[in-house]
Amino acid sequence: MYQLCPEEPRDWHEVEALMDLCFAPGRTALSSYRLRDGVPPVGELCLCLRNGEGTLTAAIRYWPVRVGGRPVLLLGPVAVHPTAQGEGLGALLMRESLDRAIGMGWARVMLVGDAPYYSRFGFARLDDVEMPPPTNPDRVLGLELQAGAWLGVTGEVCRETSPETLAGLAEINNDPHMHAECVEIEAPLKGIHG
Ligand SMILES: CC(C)(COP(=O)(O)OP(=O)(O)OC[C@H]1O[C@@H](n2cnc3c(N)ncnc32)[C@H](O)[C@@H]1OP(=O)(O)O)[C@@H](O)C(=O)NCCC(=O)NCCS
Repeated sequence: MYQLCPEEPRDWHEVEALMDLCFAPGRTALSSYRLRDGVPPVGELCLCLRNGEGTLTAAIRYWPVRVGGRPVLLLGPVAVHPTAQGEGLGALLMRESLDRAIGMGWARVMLVGDAPYYSRFGFARLDDVEMPPPTNPDRVLGLELQAGAWLGVTGEVCRETSPETLAGLAEINNDPHMHAECVEIEAPLKGIHG
């Protein structure tokens, strides 16, 4: 049995340690991190999965960005502890967070990652969306959460700078009363296919 909770401010360093364990050194030098600098995450979609002993086993985070002036979710990073990889927990976090994003009314999501993994969730290359260099264009992937939501949305990926949006995110992130409840989750039956 796992517990799935929104990430709280007290989880920050533990999630960072998990990301450091799972990714190559220097991950924060990647251009995608420059889009996150000084921008609050979309806290309602940042999720922590803990095992029965309370150990952080997997986590996913999202930030807001803009493409062609339109709001876009930037998915990532997502990581599963090396001892639990391949058990379907990554897929569980992807599906759960994307469902919540749809429920919140987000129209489109993008990420920078391995197409062979993310294509199973429906992500496909975004030909006309440019991440800050150096980013391999084959790793710039998108998914529509509403039909047609990526049509005509092109150009450079930019940091979210709208003061209203930033203030709204910070307010929600800092108010525990506005966060979703934790839920108990059964261990997935290996993988993503069920
Ligand atoms: C990538 C990651 C989040 C996937 O989570 P997970 O719980 O291990 O994966 P799942 O159990 O949901 O899915 C396992 C499947 O994904 C495949 N897979 C995992 N990582 C993959 C990758 N980078 N590219 C292609 N396929 C991948 C596995 O081979 C397995 O395939 P199968 O179902 O055909 O056997 C996790 O392995 C991880 O944290 N990796 C290190 C960090 C990382 O590389 N993150 C981002 C990748 S761009």
